[in-house]
Amino acid sequence: MYSDSRKRGTYFIQTFGCQMNERDSETIAGMLEDDGYVKAEERDGSDVIIINTCSVRENADNRFFGQLGVIKKIKEKNPDSIVAVCGCMMQQKRVTDIIKDKYSWVDIIFGTMNIDEFPSLLRERRELGQHEYAVADSIDHITEGLPSRRKFKFKSFVNIMNGCNNFCTYCIVPYTRGREKSRPPEAIIAEIKRLADDGVKEITLLGQNVNSYGKADGFDSDFADLLYRIEDIDGIERVRFMTSHPKDCSDDLIKTFGRLDKLCPHIHLPVQSGSSRLLKKMNRRYTKEKYLELLAKLRDVRSDIAVTTDIIVGFPGETDEDFEETMDLVQKARFDSAFTFLYSKREGTPAAEYEDQVPDELKHARFNRLVDAINAISAEKNAAYEGRVEKILIEGRSARGGEGTCSGRTGTFKLVNFKCDESRAGQMADVKITDAGTFSLFGELV
Ligand code: 5AD
Ligand code: SF4
Repeated sequence: MYSDSRKRGTYFIQTFGCQMNERDSETIAGMLEDDGYVKAEERDGSDVIIINTCSVRENADNRFFGQLGVIKKIKEKNPDSIVAVCGCMMQQKRVTDIIKDKYSWVDIIFGTMNIDEFPSLLRERRELGQHEYAVADSIDHITEGLPSRRKFKFKSFVNIMNGCNNFCTYCIVPYTRGREKSRPPEAIIAEIKRLADDGVKEITLLGQNVNSYGKADGFDSDFADLLYRIEDIDGIERVRFMTSHPKDCSDDLIKTFGRLDKLCPHIHLPVQSGSSRLLKKMNRRYTKEKYLELLAKLRDVRSDIAVTTDIIVGFPGETDEDFEETMDLVQKARFDSAFTFLYSKREGTPAAEYEDQVPDELKHARFNRLVDAINAISAEKNAAYEGRVEKILIEGRSARGGEGTCSGRTGTFKLVNFKCDESRAGQMADVKITDAGTFSLFGELV
């Protein structure tokens, strides 16, 4: 469908936000390369510039419009270049109206549910010279068989579902990614088999809420069943997944951590707050106690499991007592690490209308206390790795150590730096941990 051996020009994709967006950008790159475009090393001077946007937090909007200003200058130097914008921000009419009105140098706008249309929008833009817009609000199926250009040869994301049905009151995602839609298990298995044949050893299954995989579509495979089926695929050595929602973390799923050899002992389980009162206002549908119970069950089946989380500070109405509940949860849960976010008001979500917004100064003070507590626990958890030998998938040159230093991750998702020839990227290796920092480990090959 997309084959064209002629070189059409170069492309550059700038990706913001989560792994779902990264995965979408890989599809966009794959489609462009099938059409004869070549990846550019730099944005300036490339023939097609694509910005894949995120709208989870408000400052992303400001940064995005700032970027468009810079791109105007780039386009003035190279008027034939084409600028396309996509991703979650494009699902908001407010944003696309501004672009259409004030940023006329943007040639193409496409939504999170129109990615497969991008090659034809680009062709039409080139042939007809007019602006092209495609933003759908919903889809009835996920297009299968789109190409992809992976960043790594030996590891890959695999999208298993799109959208979210949860409507946490702070979150814009259900409005920008639409309702939950799962891919049929057969299509997922076939894709993973193809990846394994192509040399992929580690896969990360992606979805906003993988724990409810298949439910909205009435499949007979639930998420745990899918993991059992993936375990049998030869060549795949490691399986990861994200993101999980505590309310759908079933006993069957918990059991898989004790039963499946390929399933890595790591779960990213966003808690958001330690206050059951706030969790209710967030529409999370679990309590602090229920969350801690889940952790106990997970650690019962797999004592070495690493748990990471997301926490929001300063949700509307957060009192000192609520925040202390979060601090207490952090001490009890002992997360390996956590992403912490200052609550950001997203227009169109219920929480944006709540009147008791927390003042910025207080939010920041709480945030700093929380981060200090989390980091101290991360450092302690990491220190326990010193002296251990860990299996690592070597990913290539370390961002920190420079030449002759590689990095890779433990099964528990800890980043490890060690001296190693870069040609070994993609191999599994035993590494003895010699030193531990707050955010990464150091070791040597054994
Ligand atoms: N403000 C701050 N953080 C948010 N997140 C989602 N929406 C918001 C918001 N409005 C965080 C949640 C989620 C992560 C991906 O982003 O913690 O788990
Ligand atoms: Fe947003 Fe909640 Fe859905 Fe996660 S589960 S994407 S936080 S609405």
